[in-house]
Order: sequence, then C-alpha cells, then structure tokens
Amino acid sequence: MRKNIVAGNWKMNLEFTEAEELTAGVAEQLEGQALNCEVVICPPALYLEMATDFAEESVLKVGAQNVSNHDSGAYTGEIAAGMLASVDVKYCIVGHSERRKYFHEDNALLAQKVDKLLDYGRTPIYCCGEVLEEREKENHFKVVEQQIAEGLFHLNEDEFSNVVIAYEPVWAIGTGLTASPVQAQGMHAFIRGLIAKKYSKEVAEETTLLYGGSCNANNAKELFSQRDVDGGLIGGASLKAGEFVSIVKSF
Ligand code: 13P
Repeated sequence: MRKNIVAGNWKMNLEFTEAEELTAGVAEQLEGQALNCEVVICPPALYLEMATDFAEESVLKVGAQNVSNHDSGAYTGEIAAGMLASVDVKYCIVGHSERRKYFHEDNALLAQKVDKLLDYGRTPIYCCGEVLEEREKENHFKVVEQQIAEGLFHLNEDEFSNVVIAYEPVWAIGTGLTASPVQAQGMHAFIRGLIAKKYSKEVAEETTLLYGGSCNANNAKELFSQRDVDGGLIGGASLKAGEFVSIVKSF
C-alpha cells in the first residue's frame, strides 16, 4: 500500500551508546506528534534489537541495511531474513549503491535477497540510481529501468505490492548535491510508469517511492511535495535526532 515513509540509513556509523541516544532522541521527539508518515530507522545490524525494543514503545519502525540471500547455514558474517523477522525488524534496505559498488552486489543477487525478505514477511526497500557519468550521458532512465526490471520484476503482483523502492542518484549521495525536485519527480514518474506497464496502473499508484541523496531538513519539504515522491531515505541527516525529526515533519 502506498504510504509516506521517512527512513534513516545510519550506514556504518555510531557506537552503541550513541546509537541508543539517537534512537531514544528520535522516539522522544516524535512522541505524541501527529505524523503524516511512517518513520523507520536502519541502524547497523548489531543495534537492531536495541532499536526494536524502543520501537515496541514508540511509533518507530526498524529496518536492516542488508540481508543474506540464503536462509541459514555456513555463511560466516551474514544475517538471514528469518533472523531479522525473529527480532521484529520490519524493513530491509536492498541494493544500496554502496553495496553494489564495494561489495559487488548485482541485480541477480539482489533479486534473491528481495525473495528472502518477502518469504519472511519483511519489506525490502530496493535501491536504484545512476552514477554521474550515466546521467551525463543521459543513460539514467535506462540504468534505473534495468536495475528495477532485473531486481524486482520477477515478482508476481502480490509479492511486488510488498516492496518499497528508493531512487538514490549516486552522484547525490553524501555529496551535498541533491537531485532537484524536478529531477526527482521525473525519475519517480518514470519508475511509476515502468510499474504500470509491468503490472497495472493501480499497482503503480499503490507503490511507495522514496528519494535519497543529500536530503535534509532544508530541502525535504519541496522534494516530498512532488506528486510521485512518497518520502525519503536519509543518510547523514538521519544521524542527528533533531534534523531527522524535522525531515519527518516536512510531511
Ligand atoms: P546522504 O543523505 O548522506 O546523501 O545518503 C543518502 C543515502 O545513501 C541513504 O541511503
């Protein structure tokens, strides 16, 4: 179901006490507030259970940053979708550009990760987005289409309806360069069109599409006001409770 979501991707930041303070800070500042979006935090795996404990008592939902493409077994260092489910982690980022780049994750592997999450009733936040060179060569629509087709379009309509997509142009991540509202809206409308073509217009209208890339308290309102932008996947600006909550309140 299409809904507004603001999700914080903490990446590999913060030690335990800092993570706990940030979680508590966000939960406290949101308490009793009328919100127009779901709020998700995605801390490092080691802190997920701490976060889900807070989530039980607050509006917060918790997401992981990665998941294995296997169910269980001899995969040292990996975390399975069933494990995420067992500590009530509801969401999981899949295919972030940093994982595509540094860990060589390709669309075929990401499709398997998506399947595992859906098997265990978790919601994948599937990331797509072009690098600067691809945009400069005007290949960005083609690149995103391929990422989505190969990572998601093997799903049937029911399965697909449990997926969230995040468009994160790689050139805008951590750079302070944000896609303009027009650029974000253009890509989101394109993605919605792909979904309509593959499934149906109704399915497309019901899909949640997030924007990520240098989204902060100053630019969130304008980005989120675009017709096809249903919220954000926030990196750096999710590491400070006050700023993250301002972004949440941009809706
Ligand atoms: P920044 O908000 O730090 O640019 O990161 C965006 C991101 O990668 C979220 O997943």
